[in-house]
Amino acid sequence: MAGISAASGLTGNWLAVTPNGDGTAQRTYFHLQQQGGRITGTIRWTLHLFSITASAGGPENFTIAAAMPLSWGERRVAYRGTLAGDELHLTKISGFGPDLPLIARRAPPGEGDLPARIEPPSVHPVRDNGLARTPPMGWNSWNKFANRIDDATVREIAAAMASNGMRDAGYVYVNIDDTWEGERDSGGSIHPNSKFPDMKALADYVHSEGLKLGIYSSPGPDTCEGYEGSYGHEEQDARTYAAWGVDYVKYDWCGAFTVYKDSEMQAVYQKMGDALLATGRPIVFSLCQYGVGGVWKWGPEAGGNLWRTGGDISDSWDSVSRIGFAQIELAPYSRPGHWNDPDMLEVGNGHMTDVEYRTHMTLWSMLAAPLIAGNDVRNMPASIRDILTNRDVIAIDQDQAARPPKRVWRSGRQEVWSRELADGDVALAVFNRASESARVAFAWKRVGIAKTPSQIRDLWRHAGQNGSGPEYSVEVPGHGVVLLRLR
Ligand code: GLA
Repeated sequence: MAGISAASGLTGNWLAVTPNGDGTAQRTYFHLQQQGGRITGTIRWTLHLFSITASAGGPENFTIAAAMPLSWGERRVAYRGTLAGDELHLTKISGFGPDLPLIARRAPPGEGDLPARIEPPSVHPVRDNGLARTPPMGWNSWNKFANRIDDATVREIAAAMASNGMRDAGYVYVNIDDTWEGERDSGGSIHPNSKFPDMKALADYVHSEGLKLGIYSSPGPDTCEGYEGSYGHEEQDARTYAAWGVDYVKYDWCGAFTVYKDSEMQAVYQKMGDALLATGRPIVFSLCQYGVGGVWKWGPEAGGNLWRTGGDISDSWDSVSRIGFAQIELAPYSRPGHWNDPDMLEVGNGHMTDVEYRTHMTLWSMLAAPLIAGNDVRNMPASIRDILTNRDVIAIDQDQAARPPKRVWRSGRQEVWSRELADGDVALAVFNRASESARVAFAWKRVGIAKTPSQIRDLWRHAGQNGSGPEYSVEVPGHGVVLLRLR
């Protein structure tokens, strides 16, 4: 008998609050029903909604395991807990969610439920905003700083970009990624959290350095890091960003999947595309939904100036080469105003060699990808600064003709990409994907060059030579590239 009455004590809606340290908090709701020796219900941690699939024990000592199906696989979480007076003490055993021991208290029924669905608009083409005629260039906080980004760091980054040659090489957008968001006020307006005391003042500062400011949100109720998204506040947020002086918005699907189906993405993105246009301020619109649903086909219609073509990059040769070499098939979808985005650069983040970072920069430039640096540009070795600011390489990326590259030759782990440039020159990238150095030799004819080029310029070695003979041969280091501009 004692067991049963104690067990029923777990039934209810329990809330654990974990502060983020910036005035906001992660909320985890345990919606539990105890029936006999069985615990059922859901666990909602920001954008994660898990259903309890197994339980053991009772109020004094129980475990619950929960799962959340996603189109790309299942996420799981498990907790151990005990009821102590009117508190539930929980420790995460495995899976997603805050790692700290949690203390949950009773919350009113319904609190923490997913918000009601707002129908997406019917699909129509968003008017072209006229921006991003060449691939956007700038910097973004995520790859290096993740949730540690704040106002002071953004200012230092902007000052560094203005003085280290990056701004003058074309890197103009200074983009704040996730975790700037605070709470909404009673009128629904979004405010930054305590890490960003005054967004308008920050934008003014960034503009005073000759740069532009970018910001981040999600069409869902929650961002990927569990901060406030733009769901139900799209027009209002667009107006707020414009009033702050924001020039670029990255809009990350994240928690939108708790409300919308993948097939509704175009309409959902279009809503923010229209809202940004309606502000009258020129704002670059960056779509981030990991390349789902053939976004390269409808991204421009949704108002997108760029769209991610896949999942998140990481600072490893495996990630960069896997993403970079797979993108060539999509290249024909990029055109002035509307670009494939294979994700931000990892150049300078420390886990690859300079040879590999040169290959990273070459792949992105041959693909006409946005060049959004993701390293700590306040403090980088000269070799990294030289990779990011190589004007000859940037000129390939930014070439006005924006013709797609072609893979023109392949032998084992070596391959050659070619791209016709606006002035009639040809960019030729000779890649060696193997880990050992290799001599690569080919006839010009075999890579689509009809006549021996009169001039061959090596864009990484900054050296020119005259073409001689019908063949070309070069030693390429492992994971390296030789990038040529041919006349
Ligand atoms: C997703 C995006 C990343 C970054 C994080 C931030 O994973 O793909 O680029 O914006 O969210 O939470």
